[in-house]
Order: sequence, then C-alpha cells, then structure tokens
Amino acid sequence: MTKPFDAAISRFHEEEAPEEIRRALAGAGKGDIASPRFPYPEKWKRKAYDAEMDALQIELVKMQAWVKETGQRVVVIFEGRDAAGKGGTIARFRQNLNPRGARVVALAKPSEIEAGQWYFQRYVRELPTAGEIVFFDRSWYNRAVVEPVFGFADEDQVARFYDQLAPFEKMLTDDGILLFKLWINVGRATQLERFLKRENDPLKQWKLSWVDVEGLRKWDAYTDRIATMFERSDFDFAPWTVVRGDDKRRARVSAIRRVLSGLDYPDKDDRAACAIDPKIAGGPDIWPR
Ligand code: ADP
Ligand code: AMP
Ligand code: MLT
Repeated sequence: MTKPFDAAISRFHEEEAPEEIRRALAGAGKGDIASPRFPYPEKWKRKAYDAEMDALQIELVKMQAWVKETGQRVVVIFEGRDAAGKGGTIARFRQNLNPRGARVVALAKPSEIEAGQWYFQRYVRELPTAGEIVFFDRSWYNRAVVEPVFGFADEDQVARFYDQLAPFEKMLTDDGILLFKLWINVGRATQLERFLKRENDPLKQWKLSWVDVEGLRKWDAYTDRIATMFERSDFDFAPWTVVRGDDKRRARVSAIRRVLSGLDYPDKDDRAACAIDPKIAGGPDIWPR
C-alpha cells in the first residue's frame, strides 16, 4: 500500500519525534490513551459510551425541535489541532438531526476573491438564519493559530483580527445568536498516533494534508498561538470550552453536553444532557499547554 507524502509521518515518528512521545506510543496498548497526562489511563468502554450517547441523541432532537419552533440561531465552533476529532464530533452531533437546519461549514483556504475581502466576510455569509444550527469545522480562529504558524497571515493581520474579534463576537451574541466555542484538545502522542493510523488507512488518507505533515515540527509554535488565543478571546459573552479529546468517546459526549446544557429547550433530561465530567471539559484553565 502506498503512503501519502512519501511516508513522512512514519519517518517523523522514527527519526525526529521526541523520545518521550515515542515511548508513550510504544507503551500504549489497545484501549490505552497514548498521551501520558490524560486523566484516565484507558479509553471509555463502548457499552457505557453507547448508553450515554443514545440518551444524548434524543436530547439533540428535542433541542433542534425547539430551535426550529422558536426561531433560534445557534453557532457551534469546533477548533483544535489537526486530528483532534473535530469532524467526528460534528458527525455525532448531526447523526439524528434534520440536515435541513443543521449545516456544517468547513471552508477551504481563502480564494483570491476572499483573500481580498474583510477577513470575517466569508464566515458572516455562513451564519444561521432563524431555526438553524451551524457547525463550523474550523472558523475565523484560523487567523489566531494556523495562519500565523504557517505564515499565511502576517503579524499585522493577526493584530487586526484581535482588534476586531471582541466587537465581532459581541455583535453576534447581542443580536441573539447562541454562540459556542469548543476547543478540542489533543496531546502530542495522541496526535502522532492518529496521523500514523491515517497514513496506513486508505479510507483515512484523505484527511492528511501538507499542513499536517509540516505541522509535526511546529507543535510548539502552535502551543504559543493557542495560549495567546485563550488569553485574548475568552470573553464573558463568548467563552471558550476546552474538551480533552484524547479519548474520542468521552470528548464527544462532553462536547454535546456542553452545548445542550447551554440551551434552554423544554423537557430537558438534565441528567443525560448536563452531567459534564470536569476532568474532560471546562474553561481554558484546564488547557494543559
Ligand atoms: P483540515 O485540518 O481542515 O483537514 P489542513 O490541516 O490542511 O485542513 O489545514 C488547516 C487549515 O489551514 C484549514 O482551515 C485550511 O483552509 C487552512 N489553510 C491551508 N492553507 C492555507 C493558506 N494558504 N492560507 C490560509 N489558510 C490556509
Ligand atoms: P500530553 O501528555 O501533554 O500529551 O497531554 C495529553 C492530554 O492529557 C491532553 O490533551 C490533556 O487532555 C491531558 N492533560 C495534560 N496535562 C494535564 C493535567 N495537568 N491534568 C489533567 N490532564 C492533563
Ligand atoms: C479532526 O480530526 O480534528 C479533523 O476533523 C480533521 C483533521 O484535523 O485532520
């Protein structure tokens, strides 16, 4: 089987990965969490997960009915390093929702026309109308993290982004948009483990990109930009939620609960919808750096 990017992920693992990361990967058996500082040693068992997730699916359907009936506009932003599990989490949110009214927005890199526009413009175009939930798989926060890390944006552009960010999100929330900002966190060992899997799985190779490959060596540059992002964009009116994503099952359940517990739909089952595990989800203070 051919490996994309000239097997760059495997080569990085064998030749360049920090020793502690290699050791963590070598020591992780099936069902273990590769990243050593994760609060649970093992992944959540399927049975426990299925029971919680089934209950959450019912809550999500109730929530969407309320969104439609009352004409709410909901925006859920998914951010995180590559392979954090953004796409998979969005898929679980949408599993039983009416796709008409639960859109995913995953924009490609800006076209020449978009690059000439106000930075927020192409995202504004995708905001929900009454009765809609929009899931952003990456968002305007590209300008805070990936763009400066790769030099796609210069420091002036990043500074202007931060100047405009608070007023921008304030306008959205003042106008009644219900805005959730989720950062799915992933440890370095977990990220490398998932990249290696993608490189070896023909069904997952499409998920690998040049940015992922180059990003392997840019872990610390990402970390610095993420820290700045939390310092400068955890607003009272639009706070961040950090979800530890090293165990995908726990992360998906916590992400869904975070959104459901922030929405006031009728007939809510609080136990199913709101019991957030504080070891898995919280504010930027739980971000491990
Ligand atoms: P994904 O994580 O969505 O699979 P990538 O890891 O390839 O995608 O890229 C990460 C992000 O960086 C994407 O949102 C992509 O649009 C953005 N990006 C890639 N190239 C550029 C570029 N030249 N200018 C601006 N943004 C870019
Ligand atoms: P790392 O061991 O740095 O690869 O981190 C892996 C994962 O462990 C992170 O994504 C966090 O979810 C979690 N984590 C890291 N540091 C801590 C900490 N001090 N307390 C609890 N969890 C942590
Ligand atoms: C993720 O897994 O976080 C995204 O869906 C895909 C990626 O970052 O490569």
